[in-house]
Amino acid sequence: MMSTADQYAVVGNPIEHSKSPEIHRMFAEQTGQKLEYRPLLAPLDGFRSSVEAFREAGGRGLNITVPFKLEAWEFASQRTNRAERAGAVNTLVFYPDGRILGDNTDGVGLIADLTRNHGLVLAGRRILVLGAGGAARGILGPLLDEGPEEIVIANRTAERAEMLAESFSNLGPVSGCGFDALSTREFDLIINATSASLEDSLPPLPGHVLSSDGCCYDLMYADKPTAFVLWGREHGALKSLDGLGMLVEQAAESFKLWRGLRPDTTSVIQALRTS
Ligand code: ATR
Repeated sequence: MMSTADQYAVVGNPIEHSKSPEIHRMFAEQTGQKLEYRPLLAPLDGFRSSVEAFREAGGRGLNITVPFKLEAWEFASQRTNRAERAGAVNTLVFYPDGRILGDNTDGVGLIADLTRNHGLVLAGRRILVLGAGGAARGILGPLLDEGPEEIVIANRTAERAEMLAESFSNLGPVSGCGFDALSTREFDLIINATSASLEDSLPPLPGHVLSSDGCCYDLMYADKPTAFVLWGREHGALKSLDGLGMLVEQAAESFKLWRGLRPDTTSVIQALRTS
């Protein structure tokens, strides 16, 4: 018998460790939505053909993860403002009339986790973003929308941070520098958007760069605390958080785009923490 449930997937390479299928299964169960969501491994040179095959088979939408977010941005026939600013797409919606909408829910997912789940206020705060790659680009717009006092982007390659800051300077007070320029600075929130956690390493940070009641947030999530989460704990962070909440919140935003309702995230985050 043919399945009647609407089809969704997360496409990436690799994809087997993605938590998105589990998250969306919980969302579907909780909201009573009839849908199926599976991992979709695309060859590194085969994003477009994999996505087209999925769409032609009746697929309704996709999440996109490493390394295809830029290709997904190009693939979309129209894009939301936040996807346009991020330069990357993590959610595609396939409409019956053939339109393909590209959105980026990563940044709003981070803001939801910081403000709703952890009660942080970003307005008027000094925020340090570590890293100037795709992950940093994806969060800058939504962070600036919160009205911080300033955002400093620090990167191993300082010019990359300066260029990224320049491209967002019309949205608010943002500047870029190298890590050595942080020695006399202090921040209320430090967000790690480097891929250093993947290698279990850390950007070189002066110890006093975190203010006395400051918080740390690693966009990465792993089963054990990342090197940056541990750094935050060791340097007296009020909260030192990993990216699990952001992962669930960005998924909830994608789900809302596809299904028109936003699932409860607290129970899903709790279930993943204890699994
Ligand atoms: P992503 O899309 O995950 O952001 P990316 O665009 O390749 O990936 O960017 C990776 C970021 O992590 C960059 O800011 C990179 O610094 P450089 O621009 O100087 O390369 C940063 N990064 C990676 N490994 C790092 C490490 N061990 N220490 C500090 N920064 C690191």
